[in-house]
Amino acid sequence: PRLEEVYNSFDFESIARLILRKDAWYYFSAGAQDEISMRENHNAYHRIWLRPRVMINVSKVNTTTTLSGTKVSMPLYISATAMNKLAHPDAEKVLARAAGRCNIIQMIPTLSACSLGDIVNARIHADQAQWFQLYVDTDRQITQRIVEQVEKKGIRGLFITVDLATVGRREKYLRRKQKNDKLSNKDKTEDDKRKTNNCKRTCNTDTTKGPKNNSMSSKNKRGSIIDPSLSWKDIAWLKSITKIPLFLKGVQCWEDAVLAWSHGCQGIVLSNHGGRQLDFAPSPIEILPEVIHALKREGCDPKKDFDVYIDGGIRRGSDIFKAIALGARGVGIGRPSLYAMACYGDKGVDHLLKLFQNELETCMMLMGAKTIDDIKPEMVDIRNLKDH
Ligand code: FNR
Repeated sequence: PRLEEVYNSFDFESIARLILRKDAWYYFSAGAQDEISMRENHNAYHRIWLRPRVMINVSKVNTTTTLSGTKVSMPLYISATAMNKLAHPDAEKVLARAAGRCNIIQMIPTLSACSLGDIVNARIHADQAQWFQLYVDTDRQITQRIVEQVEKKGIRGLFITVDLATVGRREKYLRRKQKNDKLSNKDKTEDDKRKTNNCKRTCNTDTTKGPKNNSMSSKNKRGSIIDPSLSWKDIAWLKSITKIPLFLKGVQCWEDAVLAWSHGCQGIVLSNHGGRQLDFAPSPIEILPEVIHALKREGCDPKKDFDVYIDGGIRRGSDIFKAIALGARGVGIGRPSLYAMACYGDKGVDHLLKLFQNELETCMMLMGAKTIDDIKPEMVDIRNLKDH
């Protein structure tokens, strides 16, 4: 279809399913095991109803806000995803450009296909803010080197992924991979087989030792990006090696949110890795209210002292609205930008972001909220959010 016929983020998903190579589709779309958490991530938003206010002059609506000190056009950022080359040859550079044009933040993945330098150089404005998602390596020297490079590039936030003590089993993808391997081993020459094996390693999970063409992880000869020994002690070490504000990505309950705060992190991302890790991990939006409540109880003022972000299943402008109403500072998207980039490249991601922005604006107007600060908890009805 022409881009004008793409009406929402779900349309990109349907088109991606048709046009992507099978292994890429399964890699992007898979969740862990029965994919209950993956589906619930979005479905939980269906249980939140809106309480619109009328007779408010909404002739001017403003979606701009600040995310951890950076002014942005809306409270949405592009989250880190591995293997972006499966979607587009320009991979993370497409996302850097689109984020720049729309004036939002892109989170660069440790397992990027392009080098950090290339992704930073793809920015549209010199002062365009970018964040970096960090997998802490078993070899801490590797991590230290990555962090030093990231700091030199002026990256404004370091998001430590903490939900990857081991890799979730994405069975849909594993099944497909096995089929591919069988096919390729039957008909291919030795040389082809070698290539396939390289690709397999690259396309394995979010968590291989690193794609071949990744500037950072290719140096990762000794360590592994999966370090099951990662613990709260490492926060002090990370703080000692960098001045970049630290965030934990993958917090999944209020107790850990409070610990992140007491360990001096700048914020967290409530996330279950898009349902790719632990099946039956809760939908982040479902735990957002109790996380905000617990932080306040500890004397922390979320949105002032500590930023609570959320990702997983954000597919509509009203999802952004609901998350903000319940106390999130901003929301991240993973699959939607991958699908948009796979289907239409730069223009696709521009269109996706425009759709999110328009939907958010429409929602704010119909809700009687002129600014992001006007979006309040009493504007949503969460009686059905928790199953009773
Ligand atoms: C991810 N995600 C992810 N997270 C991370 O910290 N490091 C990574 O390398 C990846 N890689 C990755 C690959 C793919 C294909 C997906 C779909 C996701 C998780 C990502 O940052 C984010 O948390 C989720 O994607 C958000 O959920 P939605 O928007 O995809 O529903």
